[in-house]
Amino acid sequence: MEALTDRFGRVHNYLRISVTDRCNLRCVYCMPEEGVAFTESSNLLTYDQIVEVVEAGAGLGIKKLRITGGEPLVRPNLDRLIARLADIPGIDDISLTTNGVFLAKQADALKAAGLNRVNISLDTLDPARFAFIARRSELRRVMEGIEAAAKAGFNPIKLNCVLLKGINEDEIAAFLKMAYEQPLHVRFIEYMPIGHADDNWRKMYLPLSRVLEIAEEQGYQVARRDQVKGNGPSEDFEFAGGVGSFGLIHPISDHFCKNCNRLRLTADGNLKPCLYWVDELNVKSALGDSDALRRMFAKAMDIKPENHEMAAKLADGALSHVPTDRRMSQIGG
Ligand code: GTP
Ligand code: 5AD
Ligand code: SF4
Repeated sequence: MEALTDRFGRVHNYLRISVTDRCNLRCVYCMPEEGVAFTESSNLLTYDQIVEVVEAGAGLGIKKLRITGGEPLVRPNLDRLIARLADIPGIDDISLTTNGVFLAKQADALKAAGLNRVNISLDTLDPARFAFIARRSELRRVMEGIEAAAKAGFNPIKLNCVLLKGINEDEIAAFLKMAYEQPLHVRFIEYMPIGHADDNWRKMYLPLSRVLEIAEEQGYQVARRDQVKGNGPSEDFEFAGGVGSFGLIHPISDHFCKNCNRLRLTADGNLKPCLYWVDELNVKSALGDSDALRRMFAKAMDIKPENHEMAAKLADGALSHVPTDRRMSQIGG
Protein backbone atom coordinates (compact mmCIF):
# COMPACT_ATOMS: atom_id res chain seq x y z
CA MET A 1 0.00 0.00 0.00
CA GLU A 2 1.36 3.45 -0.91
CA ALA A 3 1.74 5.67 2.11
CA LEU A 4 0.54 9.26 2.06
CA THR A 5 3.92 10.99 2.26
CA ASP A 6 4.33 14.68 1.54
CA ARG A 7 7.27 16.55 -0.03
CA PHE A 8 8.93 16.82 3.38
CA GLY A 9 8.75 13.12 4.21
CA ARG A 10 5.88 13.39 6.66
CA VAL A 11 3.63 10.32 6.63
CA HIS A 12 -0.09 11.02 7.02
CA ASN A 13 -2.34 8.51 8.77
CA TYR A 14 -4.80 10.86 10.54
CA LEU A 15 -7.90 12.44 8.98
CA ARG A 16 -10.00 15.01 10.85
CA ILE A 17 -13.54 15.00 9.49
CA SER A 18 -15.79 17.97 10.15
CA VAL A 19 -19.41 16.83 9.89
CA THR A 20 -20.99 20.27 10.34
CA ASP A 21 -19.93 23.91 10.67
CA ARG A 22 -22.88 24.62 12.98
CA CYS A 23 -22.53 24.92 16.70
CA ASN A 24 -24.78 25.56 19.67
CA LEU A 25 -22.09 27.70 21.38
CA ARG A 26 -20.26 30.84 20.25
CA CYS A 27 -16.84 30.64 21.93
CA VAL A 28 -15.03 33.97 21.73
CA TYR A 29 -11.91 32.42 20.20
CA CYS A 30 -13.84 30.61 17.50
CA MET A 31 -16.95 32.37 16.22
CA PRO A 32 -18.38 35.88 16.33
CA GLU A 33 -21.45 36.44 18.50
CA GLU A 34 -23.73 36.58 15.46
CA GLY A 35 -22.37 33.28 14.11
CA VAL A 36 -21.10 32.82 10.54
CA ALA A 37 -22.88 31.98 7.29
CA PHE A 38 -23.53 28.28 7.78
CA THR A 39 -23.29 25.75 4.96
CA GLU A 40 -26.69 24.79 3.52
CA SER A 41 -27.55 21.21 4.48
CA SER A 42 -27.68 20.33 0.77
CA ASN A 43 -23.99 21.29 0.44
CA LEU A 44 -22.79 19.11 3.32
CA LEU A 45 -21.14 15.83 2.43
CA THR A 46 -23.67 13.09 3.15
CA TYR A 47 -22.67 10.19 5.38
CA ASP A 48 -22.44 7.99 2.26
CA GLN A 49 -20.01 10.49 0.72
CA ILE A 50 -17.90 10.75 3.87
CA VAL A 51 -17.64 6.96 3.98
CA GLU A 52 -16.55 6.94 0.34
CA VAL A 53 -13.79 9.49 0.99
CA VAL A 54 -12.58 7.60 4.05
CA GLU A 55 -12.51 4.31 2.12
CA ALA A 56 -10.20 5.94 -0.43
CA GLY A 57 -8.02 7.40 2.35
CA ALA A 58 -7.88 4.09 4.22
CA GLY A 59 -6.55 2.46 1.06
CA LEU A 60 -3.67 4.95 1.24
CA GLY A 61 -2.85 4.48 4.91
CA ILE A 62 -5.33 6.63 6.84
CA LYS A 63 -5.88 4.72 10.10
CA LYS A 64 -7.04 7.35 12.61
CA LEU A 65 -10.17 9.43 12.30
CA ARG A 66 -11.36 12.33 14.41
CA ILE A 67 -14.89 13.64 14.03
CA THR A 68 -15.16 17.39 14.56
CA GLY A 69 -17.49 20.31 13.82
CA GLY A 70 -18.58 23.07 14.51
CA GLU A 71 -20.18 20.85 17.09
CA PRO A 72 -20.42 17.34 15.65
CA LEU A 73 -23.21 16.23 17.99
CA VAL A 74 -25.67 18.66 16.36
CA ARG A 75 -25.59 16.53 13.20
CA PRO A 76 -28.39 13.94 13.47
CA ASN A 77 -27.57 10.24 13.90
CA LEU A 78 -23.82 10.67 14.24
CA ASP A 79 -23.61 7.21 15.81
CA ARG A 80 -24.70 5.74 12.45
CA LEU A 81 -21.78 7.41 10.67
CA ILE A 82 -19.36 6.21 13.35
CA ALA A 83 -20.60 2.62 13.01
CA ARG A 84 -19.98 2.72 9.26
CA LEU A 85 -16.53 4.29 9.61
CA ALA A 86 -15.58 1.69 12.24
CA ASP A 87 -16.28 -1.06 9.69
CA ILE A 88 -13.85 0.30 7.09
CA PRO A 89 -10.81 -1.99 6.83
CA GLY A 90 -7.66 -0.24 8.09
CA ILE A 91 -9.44 2.24 10.39
CA ASP A 92 -8.27 1.44 13.92
CA ASP A 93 -9.02 4.55 16.00
CA ILE A 94 -12.06 6.84 15.87
CA SER A 95 -12.33 9.78 18.18
CA LEU A 96 -14.58 12.81 18.63
CA THR A 97 -13.96 16.42 19.62
CA THR A 98 -17.08 17.93 21.16
CA ASN A 99 -18.15 20.82 23.34
CA GLY A 100 -19.89 18.22 25.52
CA VAL A 101 -23.31 19.88 25.77
CA PHE A 102 -25.17 17.03 24.02
CA LEU A 103 -22.81 14.28 25.09
CA ALA A 104 -24.73 12.92 28.10
CA LYS A 105 -27.61 11.90 25.84
CA GLN A 106 -25.43 10.32 23.17
CA ALA A 107 -22.42 8.84 24.99
CA ASP A 108 -23.72 5.25 25.22
CA ALA A 109 -24.87 5.11 21.59
CA LEU A 110 -21.55 6.54 20.38
CA LYS A 111 -19.60 4.01 22.41
CA ALA A 112 -21.75 1.15 21.09
CA ALA A 113 -21.19 2.38 17.53
CA GLY A 114 -17.43 1.98 17.90
CA LEU A 115 -16.21 5.41 18.97
CA ASN A 116 -12.94 4.92 20.88
CA ARG A 117 -12.18 8.29 22.47
CA VAL A 118 -13.62 11.73 23.23
CA ASN A 119 -11.97 15.11 23.69
CA ILE A 120 -14.23 17.64 25.39
CA SER A 121 -13.74 21.41 25.41
CA LEU A 122 -13.72 22.91 28.91
CA ASP A 123 -12.17 26.34 29.37
CA THR A 124 -13.45 27.21 32.82
CA LEU A 125 -15.03 25.65 35.89
CA ASP A 126 -17.00 28.79 36.70
CA PRO A 127 -20.58 29.07 35.31
CA ALA A 128 -20.49 32.86 34.80
CA ARG A 129 -17.17 32.68 33.02
CA PHE A 130 -18.41 29.84 30.89
CA ALA A 131 -21.31 32.05 29.84
CA PHE A 132 -18.82 34.77 28.92
CA ILE A 133 -16.41 32.55 26.96
CA ALA A 134 -19.01 30.36 25.18
CA ARG A 135 -21.69 33.08 25.16
CA ARG A 136 -24.16 30.44 26.38
CA SER A 137 -24.87 29.17 29.95
CA GLU A 138 -24.15 25.51 29.42
CA LEU A 139 -21.47 24.54 31.96
CA ARG A 140 -23.76 22.17 33.85
CA ARG A 141 -24.57 20.11 30.76
CA VAL A 142 -20.87 19.93 29.79
CA MET A 143 -20.00 18.57 33.25
CA GLU A 144 -22.81 16.02 32.88
CA GLY A 145 -21.39 15.11 29.48
CA ILE A 146 -17.94 14.48 30.97
CA GLU A 147 -19.46 12.27 33.65
CA ALA A 148 -21.54 10.35 31.10
CA ALA A 149 -18.47 9.81 28.92
CA ALA A 150 -16.64 8.25 31.87
CA LYS A 151 -19.65 6.05 32.71
CA ALA A 152 -19.91 4.94 29.09
CA GLY A 153 -16.34 3.67 29.38
CA PHE A 154 -14.41 6.16 27.24
CA ASN A 155 -10.77 6.15 28.20
CA PRO A 156 -8.85 8.38 28.10
CA ILE A 157 -11.10 11.40 28.41
CA LYS A 158 -9.26 14.54 27.39
CA LEU A 159 -10.37 18.04 28.29
CA ASN A 160 -9.35 20.87 25.95
CA CYS A 161 -8.77 24.15 27.77
CA VAL A 162 -7.91 27.15 25.57
CA LEU A 163 -6.00 29.57 27.79
CA LEU A 164 -7.09 33.19 27.58
CA LYS A 165 -5.08 35.99 29.15
CA GLY A 166 -7.01 37.78 31.86
CA ILE A 167 -9.99 35.45 31.42
CA ASN A 168 -9.14 31.96 32.68
CA GLU A 169 -5.41 32.06 33.44
CA ASP A 170 -6.24 32.15 37.15
CA GLU A 171 -7.81 28.69 36.74
CA ILE A 172 -4.63 26.94 35.61
CA ALA A 173 -4.05 25.74 39.20
CA ALA A 174 -7.63 24.44 39.47
CA PHE A 175 -7.31 22.53 36.19
CA LEU A 176 -3.98 21.06 37.30
CA LYS A 177 -5.59 19.96 40.57
CA MET A 178 -8.40 18.31 38.61
CA ALA A 179 -5.87 16.41 36.51
CA TYR A 180 -3.87 15.44 39.62
CA GLU A 181 -6.91 14.07 41.43
CA GLN A 182 -9.09 12.61 38.68
CA PRO A 183 -8.53 10.16 35.80
CA LEU A 184 -8.64 12.96 33.24
CA HIS A 185 -6.10 14.33 30.79
CA VAL A 186 -6.30 18.13 30.70
CA ARG A 187 -4.76 19.82 27.66
CA PHE A 188 -3.92 23.50 27.79
CA ILE A 189 -4.10 25.04 24.32
CA GLU A 190 -2.71 28.30 22.98
CA TYR A 191 -5.28 30.54 21.35
CA MET A 192 -4.69 30.57 17.59
CA PRO A 193 -5.84 33.42 15.36
CA ILE A 194 -7.61 31.79 12.45
CA GLY A 195 -9.16 33.15 9.32
CA HIS A 196 -9.96 36.75 10.23
CA ALA A 197 -8.40 39.82 11.83
CA ASP A 198 -8.78 38.75 15.40
CA ASP A 199 -8.77 41.57 17.95
CA ASN A 200 -9.54 39.08 20.70
CA TRP A 201 -6.35 37.22 19.85
CA ARG A 202 -4.19 40.31 20.41
CA LYS A 203 -5.84 40.84 23.80
CA MET A 204 -6.14 37.25 25.00
CA TYR A 205 -3.23 35.19 23.64
CA LEU A 206 -1.28 33.56 26.49
CA PRO A 207 1.84 31.42 25.93
CA LEU A 208 1.77 28.10 27.74
CA SER A 209 5.00 28.61 29.68
CA ARG A 210 2.72 29.83 32.52
CA VAL A 211 1.39 26.30 33.01
CA LEU A 212 4.73 24.76 33.97
CA GLU A 213 5.53 27.75 36.20
CA ILE A 214 2.24 27.33 38.04
CA ALA A 215 2.71 23.56 38.37
CA GLU A 216 6.02 24.29 40.08
CA GLU A 217 4.53 27.01 42.31
CA GLN A 218 1.82 24.56 43.39
CA GLY A 219 4.48 22.04 44.42
CA TYR A 220 3.76 19.36 41.79
CA GLN A 221 6.60 17.27 40.49
CA VAL A 222 5.92 16.86 36.80
CA ALA A 223 7.76 15.00 34.07
CA ARG A 224 7.32 14.44 30.35
CA ARG A 225 5.59 11.19 29.50
CA ASP A 226 4.74 9.29 26.31
CA GLN A 227 1.70 10.74 24.64
CA VAL A 228 -1.59 9.72 26.23
CA LYS A 229 -3.30 7.61 23.54
CA GLY A 230 -3.79 10.05 20.69
CA ASN A 231 -2.53 11.32 17.37
CA GLY A 232 -2.36 15.06 17.81
CA PRO A 233 0.25 17.66 18.68
CA SER A 234 0.06 17.56 22.49
CA GLU A 235 3.21 17.32 24.62
CA ASP A 236 2.14 15.31 27.64
CA PHE A 237 3.19 15.36 31.30
CA GLU A 238 2.53 13.24 34.38
CA PHE A 239 2.57 14.16 38.06
CA ALA A 240 4.48 12.21 40.68
CA GLY A 241 1.63 10.59 42.67
CA GLY A 242 -1.11 11.98 40.43
CA VAL A 243 -4.11 10.10 39.02
CA GLY A 244 -4.53 11.97 35.74
CA SER A 245 -2.15 13.90 33.50
CA PHE A 246 -1.92 17.05 31.44
CA GLY A 247 -0.71 18.23 28.06
CA LEU A 248 0.39 21.36 26.25
CA ILE A 249 -0.60 22.29 22.69
CA HIS A 250 1.42 25.30 21.61
CA PRO A 251 1.05 26.05 17.90
CA ILE A 252 2.20 29.67 18.31
CA SER A 253 5.08 29.72 20.76
CA ASP A 254 6.63 26.49 19.43
CA HIS A 255 5.00 25.05 16.35
CA PHE A 256 4.88 21.33 15.74
CA CYS A 257 4.55 21.27 11.95
CA LYS A 258 7.57 19.03 11.45
CA ASN A 259 5.63 16.15 12.98
CA CYS A 260 2.36 16.87 11.20
CA ASN A 261 0.54 13.65 10.33
CA ARG A 262 -2.92 14.98 9.47
CA LEU A 263 -5.30 16.05 6.77
CA ARG A 264 -8.71 17.62 7.20
CA LEU A 265 -12.01 17.14 5.42
CA THR A 266 -14.40 20.06 5.79
CA ALA A 267 -18.14 19.61 6.15
CA ASP A 268 -18.66 21.06 2.67
CA GLY A 269 -16.28 18.56 1.11
CA ASN A 270 -12.85 20.13 0.94
CA LEU A 271 -9.66 18.26 1.66
CA LYS A 272 -7.44 20.67 3.57
CA PRO A 273 -3.71 19.86 3.81
CA CYS A 274 -2.99 22.49 6.49
CA LEU A 275 -5.18 24.15 9.10
CA TYR A 276 -3.68 27.54 8.37
CA TRP A 277 -3.58 27.81 4.59
CA VAL A 278 -6.20 28.67 2.02
CA ASP A 279 -5.36 25.79 -0.35
CA GLU A 280 -7.93 23.03 -0.39
CA LEU A 281 -9.24 20.45 -2.85
CA ASN A 282 -12.94 19.87 -3.39
CA VAL A 283 -13.63 16.14 -3.27
CA LYS A 284 -17.12 16.45 -4.72
CA SER A 285 -15.83 16.32 -8.30
CA ALA A 286 -14.08 13.01 -7.56
CA LEU A 287 -16.95 11.24 -5.79
CA GLY A 288 -18.01 8.03 -7.50
CA ASP A 289 -14.47 7.43 -8.81
CA SER A 290 -12.14 5.86 -6.26
CA ASP A 291 -9.05 6.44 -8.45
CA ALA A 292 -9.87 10.14 -8.68
CA LEU A 293 -10.33 10.30 -4.91
CA ARG A 294 -6.98 8.63 -4.34
CA ARG A 295 -5.35 11.08 -6.76
CA MET A 296 -6.86 13.91 -4.74
CA PHE A 297 -5.28 12.58 -1.54
CA ALA A 298 -1.96 12.37 -3.40
CA LYS A 299 -2.38 15.96 -4.65
CA ALA A 300 -3.05 17.10 -1.08
CA MET A 301 0.40 15.71 -0.23
CA ASP A 302 1.96 17.67 -3.11
CA ILE A 303 0.52 21.02 -2.07
CA LYS A 304 0.96 20.71 1.69
CA PRO A 305 3.24 23.49 3.00
CA GLU A 306 6.24 22.74 5.19
CA ASN A 307 4.98 24.84 8.10
CA HIS A 308 2.93 27.88 8.91
CA GLU A 309 5.90 30.04 10.01
CA MET A 310 3.46 32.13 11.85
CA ALA A 311 4.82 32.82 15.28
CA ALA A 312 7.49 35.26 14.10
CA LYS A 313 5.15 37.06 11.71
CA LEU A 314 2.53 37.44 14.40
CA ALA A 315 5.07 38.65 16.92
CA ASP A 316 6.46 41.38 14.66
CA GLY A 317 2.98 42.49 13.61
CA ALA A 318 3.38 41.44 9.94
CA LEU A 319 0.29 39.28 10.36
CA SER A 320 -2.71 39.77 12.60
CA HIS A 321 -4.46 36.60 11.51
CA VAL A 322 -3.81 33.48 9.54
CA PRO A 323 -4.27 33.34 5.76
CA THR A 324 -7.12 30.90 5.52
CA ASP A 325 -10.53 32.37 4.87
CA ARG A 326 -12.25 29.88 7.13
CA ARG A 327 -13.03 30.32 10.81
CA MET A 328 -12.08 27.60 13.27
CA SER A 329 -15.70 26.36 13.38
CA GLN A 330 -15.59 25.89 9.60
CA ILE A 331 -12.48 23.71 9.80
CA GLY A 332 -12.94 21.74 13.02
CA GLY A 333 -9.76 22.66 14.85
P1 GTP B 1 -5.63 13.43 20.01
O1 GTP B 1 -5.78 12.34 19.01
O2 GTP B 1 -6.39 13.14 21.25
O3 GTP B 1 -4.20 13.79 20.24
O4 GTP B 1 -6.40 14.69 19.35
P2 GTP B 1 -6.00 16.15 18.87
O5 GTP B 1 -5.29 16.87 19.94
O6 GTP B 1 -5.38 16.02 17.54
O7 GTP B 1 -7.48 16.76 18.64
P3 GTP B 1 -8.37 17.94 19.23
O8 GTP B 1 -9.51 18.08 18.27
O9 GTP B 1 -8.73 17.67 20.63
O10 GTP B 1 -7.46 19.22 19.11
C1 GTP B 1 -6.84 19.85 20.20
C2 GTP B 1 -6.27 21.18 19.77
O11 GTP B 1 -5.17 20.96 18.91
C3 GTP B 1 -7.27 22.08 19.02
O12 GTP B 1 -7.12 23.40 19.46
C4 GTP B 1 -6.81 21.94 17.60
O13 GTP B 1 -7.13 23.07 16.85
C5 GTP B 1 -5.31 21.77 17.78
N1 GTP B 1 -4.73 21.10 16.63
C6 GTP B 1 -4.95 19.84 16.20
N2 GTP B 1 -4.23 19.60 15.09
C7 GTP B 1 -3.56 20.74 14.80
C8 GTP B 1 -2.68 21.14 13.76
O14 GTP B 1 -2.37 20.40 12.83
N3 GTP B 1 -2.20 22.39 13.82
C9 GTP B 1 -2.52 23.24 14.80
N4 GTP B 1 -1.99 24.43 14.79
N5 GTP B 1 -3.36 22.93 15.79
C10 GTP B 1 -3.88 21.69 15.79
N1 5AD C 1 -7.39 28.47 19.18
C1 5AD C 1 -7.13 27.31 19.82
N2 5AD C 1 -8.02 26.31 19.98
C2 5AD C 1 -9.24 26.51 19.46
N3 5AD C 1 -10.32 25.73 19.46
C3 5AD C 1 -11.31 26.37 18.78
N4 5AD C 1 -10.87 27.58 18.36
C4 5AD C 1 -9.59 27.69 18.78
C5 5AD C 1 -8.61 28.70 18.64
N5 5AD C 1 -8.84 29.84 18.00
C6 5AD C 1 -10.36 24.43 20.10
C7 5AD C 1 -11.68 24.15 20.79
C8 5AD C 1 -11.82 22.65 20.65
C9 5AD C 1 -10.88 22.27 19.53
C10 5AD C 1 -11.54 21.66 18.35
O1 5AD C 1 -10.25 23.45 19.09
O2 5AD C 1 -11.64 24.51 22.13
O3 5AD C 1 -11.44 21.99 21.81
FE1 SF4 D 1 -18.57 25.76 19.01
FE2 SF4 D 1 -16.25 24.54 19.35
FE3 SF4 D 1 -16.31 26.88 18.15
FE4 SF4 D 1 -16.88 26.74 20.77
S1 SF4 D 1 -14.89 26.21 19.78
S2 SF4 D 1 -18.06 27.90 19.21
S3 SF4 D 1 -17.84 24.83 20.95
S4 SF4 D 1 -17.17 25.03 17.33
